Amino acid sequence: MHMEFFNCLLLVLCYFITSNAEDSMFGVSACKKAYGLREDEAKELLVNEIATDENNVSQRCFVVCVLSKRGAMENGVMKLDIVIPETKEAFQESGYSFNEDEFRTGVQKCNEQTAEGKCKKSYETWKCFLKFAAKYGMEHKPAE
Ligand SMILES: *[C@@H]1O[C@H](CO)[C@@H](O)[C@H](O)[C@H]1NC(C)=O
Repeated sequence: MHMEFFNCLLLVLCYFITSNAEDSMFGVSACKKAYGLREDEAKELLVNEIATDENNVSQRCFVVCVLSKRGAMENGVMKLDIVIPETKEAFQESGYSFNEDEFRTGVQKCNEQTAEGKCKKSYETWKCFLKFAAKYGMEHKPAE
C-alpha cells in the first residue's frame, strides 16, 4: 500500500493522472512529437519515470519536457512553489509526516546539480529529486 503510494507520488505518469487530464495529455503528446518518440516508447518512459538509456538525448529531453509541461520543472530546476505544496499534500493525505523546510532544503540541493550536455542538468536534477523524495518517504512513513 505504501509502496503504491510511492510509485504514484513520484511517477510522471501519476502526475499525469492526478493533474488536469486534458492539459497533461496535450503536454505528453507535444513532448513525444518534439523528440520523435513512438507511443510505446513514450509510455515506457512515463512508467519508468527515468530514461532507459541515460545517454539517449531524446529520452532525457522527453522526461524533462513532460515535467516542464506539468509545471514541476523550469530552466533546469524543480519548481519549489509547485513541487513542495504538491508533495506535502500527497504525503499528508497518505499519513506521512512532512517537514516543509527539511524537504525544501533537499530539493534545493538537487537544484544545484550541474552537468554538461543537452537536457543533462535538468535530467540529473530530476533523478536527484526522485532519489531524495523516495528516501524522505521511507523516513517519514506513517506508524504501522
Ligand atoms: C533514443 O531512444 C528512443 C526511444 O527509446 C529511440 O527511438 C531512439 O532510437 C534512441 N536513439 C538513439 C540514438 O539511440
